[in-house]
Parts: sequence; C-alpha cells; structure tokens
Amino acid sequence: MNTAAHSDTRIAIVTGAAGGIGWATAQRLAADGCQLAILDLDGDAATQRAQELGPGHFGTGCDVASESSVQAAIAKVMTRFGRVDTLVNNAGIGDQSTGTIEQTAEGFDRVLSVHLRGTFLVSRDVGRIMLDQGAGAIVNLSSIAGLAGIPGRNAYAAAKAGISAMTRSMACEWARRGVRVNAVAPGYVRTVLVEKLEHDQALDTEAIAARTPMGRLARPEEIAQAIQFLVSEQSSFITGTTLNVDGGWLALGAPESALEAGAH
Ligand SMILES: NC(=O)c1ccc[n+]([C@@H]2O[C@H](COP(=O)([O-])OP(=O)(O)OC[C@H]3O[C@@H](n4cnc5c(N)ncnc54)[C@H](O)[C@@H]3O)[C@@H](O)[C@H]2O)c1
Repeated sequence: MNTAAHSDTRIAIVTGAAGGIGWATAQRLAADGCQLAILDLDGDAATQRAQELGPGHFGTGCDVASESSVQAAIAKVMTRFGRVDTLVNNAGIGDQSTGTIEQTAEGFDRVLSVHLRGTFLVSRDVGRIMLDQGAGAIVNLSSIAGLAGIPGRNAYAAAKAGISAMTRSMACEWARRGVRVNAVAPGYVRTVLVEKLEHDQALDTEAIAARTPMGRLARPEEIAQAIQFLVSEQSSFITGTTLNVDGGWLALGAPESALEAGAH
C-alpha cells in the first residue's frame, strides 16, 4: 500500500542509518520534513531508528553489497511510499586492521563490495525510479581517504576514490533528466566507533585534532548538514562534485607547526 500522505512529502532513503553519520543524516532530513526509509544491515536497529523518528518513517534490513537484498529493500520502499526523492549512500565498513602486505584478498573484496558495489547497486535501482520521476538527488559518502594517502587503508581509499569517480559519471549521465549526484568527503568524525577506538587507545584523536586546521574532529551532525545542503534546492546547480567536509584537513600543505605560527 502506498501510504505517502502528500505528493509534496519528500521520501529519503539513507543506507547504514542505524548509527553514526547515517543516523545523524536521517534525523536531519526528518527534521526538514522528509519521510525516511532507513536501510541497514542490522534490520532490527533500522526498524527501531524509524520508530524513534516517529510515525510515517520506515526501516528495513538490507545488505547493500547484495543485489537481491537491495532489490527487495527498494521494492519495499516503493510499496510503502511510491517514490524516492533523496538517496544517501552512507553504509560502510572499515578497512583491514593491518598493513597491505598482510592483507587478504577476501578482506579487500569485502571493503570494495560494501562501499563501491553497494553504492552502485542502490544508485542503479533508485536511479531508475528517479529517472522515471524526472527528479531526484543522490549523495554518496566519499572520504579524505579517497583523496589523500592513509597507510594501511588501501582498499578503503580505492573504494572511496571510486565512489567519487562514480559520482561524476552518474551525475553527467543523469544531469539532463533532473537527477543530481554529489558526494561528501568527511575528515575524521567523532562517531561512537571513533570514541571507542579513542578509549582503546587505537586512535590518537589528539594528534588528529592537532593536524586538522580547525583543531578538532567533526561532529556527525556537521556531515549531515552538508548532505542536507546537497540534496536540497539550495544546491540546484551543483552536480558531480565531491565536497570536502574536513575542517581544512586536505587544504593543509605545510607542517602542523605552521598552523600555530599562522594563528598569531
Ligand atoms: N566516521 C568517520 O570518521 C568517517 C570519515 C569519512 C567517511 N566516513 C564514511 O561515512 C559513512 C558512515 O560512517 P560511520 O562512521 O557513521 O560508520 P558507522 O560504523 O557508525 O555506521 C555504518 C552503518 O553502516 C551499516 N552497514 C555496514 N555494512 C552494511 C551493509 N553491507 N549494508 C547495509 N548497511 C551496512 C552498519 O550496520 C552501520 O549502521 C561510511 O561510508 C564511512 O566510510 C566516515
């Protein structure tokens, strides 16, 4: 049954929205009047999050790396809402926690599968719907790792660079049919995962903050704000771009000490 209340209610899919940046984005888009479809590998958490947002929102399990799982989830969204205006391809996993020499081919494939194949599969199925509608906006999650080297994160970096490349090709392919495609490239974001790594002393967030021109990590809401801008009419002439949301991380081409020197 199509339960969309009004044709002017925007329907937004956010993948991987059970936590972190995805959940912050879902909350932001809901506050902006969208009805949310939360797709996550953890189906129970997706349903729970939709309930937290209130009546009219929807959550379901979906493995973005699986073609049949994506098709089934998008079919459910269409049965429920009958259209899709916004897609945020956010679902992701970390890289293998070891250097390149010790990494396995299976681990490499898994990282590319979730990020790159996942973004392709969901974009393809939602793209068909948006092209039929003649309107839609997609935002993909890239990363500073796709634009600058981070030791040991080669699969993740390749996936994120691929996502920015795919963003450009899909944007050009669909631009004359009313569908915009952009990406955001976050720097380090203070999510629950990052806080746990910090607590376990597996990530030196003090050093990261010191290397960041703005002197701190991002809050998930700050990435969500950039995503909201890129799916809104405020960005109506922007397509094919990757917007860095990194506190200046990629802009820095000098030693960290220059940040202090420049502040005086
Ligand atoms: N946190 C950061 O510092 C940071 C920086 C740059 C980019 N990113 C990117 O932002 C996105 C979100 O990151 P986060 O830190 O919020 O992550 P997170 O681990 O907090 O959340 C990721 C979500 O994706 C879901 N997920 C994982 N595999 C999935 C699959 N196969 N199908 C569907 N859902 C799946 C998880 O269940 C989880 O809810 C990712 O694409 C990540 O690469 C994060």
